[in-house]
Amino acid sequence: MRTRITEMLGIEHPIVQGGMQWVGLAELASAVSNAGGLGILTGLTQPTPEALQKEIARCREMTDKPFAVNLTILPTIKPVPYEAYAQAIVDSGIKIVETAGRNPEPFLPPFKAAGITVIHKCTSIRHCLKAERIGCDMVSVDGFECAGHPGEDDVTNMILLPLAAKRLKIPFLASGGLGDGRGLAAALAMGADGINMGTRFMATIEAPIHDKVKQKMVEASELDTALIYRTLNNTARVFKNSIAEKVLEIEAQEGPTRFEDIQPLVQGTKGRELFDDGDLDKGIWSAGMIVGLIDDIPSCEELITRIVAEAEEIISQRLGQMLSA
Ligand SMILES: Cc1cc2nc3c(=O)[nH]c(=O)nc-3n(C[C@H](O)[C@H](O)[C@H](O)COP(=O)(O)O)c2cc1C
Repeated sequence: MRTRITEMLGIEHPIVQGGMQWVGLAELASAVSNAGGLGILTGLTQPTPEALQKEIARCREMTDKPFAVNLTILPTIKPVPYEAYAQAIVDSGIKIVETAGRNPEPFLPPFKAAGITVIHKCTSIRHCLKAERIGCDMVSVDGFECAGHPGEDDVTNMILLPLAAKRLKIPFLASGGLGDGRGLAAALAMGADGINMGTRFMATIEAPIHDKVKQKMVEASELDTALIYRTLNNTARVFKNSIAEKVLEIEAQEGPTRFEDIQPLVQGTKGRELFDDGDLDKGIWSAGMIVGLIDDIPSCEELITRIVAEAEEIISQRLGQMLSA
């Protein structure tokens, strides 16, 4: 399959692995890139810009294919030296960056000067149009189904993708709720140039997380995610475990939610430990509605090959026959 995105990113298949806090390490990113997709290292998973440079070097030892780095610019409890992370990305010779969380405008001059292709992740059409206007090369359109932060508009990809196709000139990836060949074929039909997946890549052999987390995702249904932080205007879609339910209980109490009340439950370090030790109720972890469609734990190579083959069959057989009939 050739699309504007495979051409621009120099990849074989129109499939990207989105940045994932604590999951986007060299093991996963290199496996996705080696399988012909685009793997992405998650910048802030590394504790310092120097550590990120080392992780980039480690990933280069594991693949000679293109891979990218995600820079997520979100409000954090501890201030993050974003400029230093951006400089580490530039100095490492990375040629593709995924930005997310906030307007990436301040980072575009150094990235553009270094010849970096910028993919900005957006949850609304107005943000996509802004990203196009300020010079991003492509966008990832993250629908309401997605893991992590879907924004506050609650518009699904069924609407967002055709809107993006109508209004954008730059190419775009469909992101959120995608995990199989049907999703890829549908996203391409709705005007996307490829897909970006997070949750589906967590349930792969190479994802550097505990097997219990992967098994839990295989068992889960499409009803097993929860939207937390709604009352704080910073909605996040996470796996519906006992901690997420406690957060929802606190948010449902009368009066404004105080972050101090939920902070001990949602600490990032607990989420990270959960991925390491498989204690599924230790903290919160991002997961999207696509968990309902995950039935196995393949290698990235098997997964990507299968998705592309399924999509090709749908396009050439099922849809093709409808036309020729
Ligand atoms: C465990 C996990 C952690 C994530 N962390 C980040 C992050 O740090 N930065 C970011 O831009 N997106 C993050 N995301 C969102 C993904 O990059 C992607 O946009 C999203 O997963 C797409 O929806 P899907 O899960 O339905 O495929 C995360 C997703 C997951 C599942």
